[in-house]
Amino acid sequence: MDSVNLAVFASGSGSNAENIIRYFSNHSSIRIKKVLTNNPNAYVIDRAKNLNVPVRVFNRHEFYETGLIINDLKSDQIQWIILAGFLWLVPASITEAFPGRIVNIHPALLPKYGGKGMYGEKVHQAVKSAGEKESGITIHYVNNEYDKGNIIFQARCPVDPSDTPETIAEKVHGLEYKHYPEVIENLICK
Ligand code: GRF
Repeated sequence: MDSVNLAVFASGSGSNAENIIRYFSNHSSIRIKKVLTNNPNAYVIDRAKNLNVPVRVFNRHEFYETGLIINDLKSDQIQWIILAGFLWLVPASITEAFPGRIVNIHPALLPKYGGKGMYGEKVHQAVKSAGEKESGITIHYVNNEYDKGNIIFQARCPVDPSDTPETIAEKVHGLEYKHYPEVIENLICK
């Protein structure tokens, strides 16, 4: 059977991207074919190159006002797009080209603590400030609104009064590394 080709989009550190690449290296039916980023300084570029995954850097004009990214994805025969810490809103041209085949991970229990500007430390700070007793991860389909697509999977972790945004982030990252690759695998191989 031919492999199913995935592209991973990331904007920053890329620890989830690396975890996904490692999980699917030598996989029988899923291949991470390319990493795409909007950020020429993102550490995800080094991570991908170290793992021999090609990288494409794109700018705002290319992403929103041309069909170049879709053309690139199609010529790489990409079938699924995995967002892993990708901060730009995905335009309708791309969601329409990959209907039901774009997935994101959010570091909180949506619908709480999502939306534009809610990323990274800001999410964990908001969870802490609200005195939440738990947080977690949400894996969801991507539509044209930030963090609003249908939810595929959630996992929870306790938040204790002694937790800081940093310790909440650690717990949430642990859940991300544990679950994101498996959820992707189950979606694609089901
Ligand atoms: C993760 O917490 C992910 O949920 C969010 O952005 C963060 C990216 O971290 N969307 P990394 O770049 O994978 O280390």
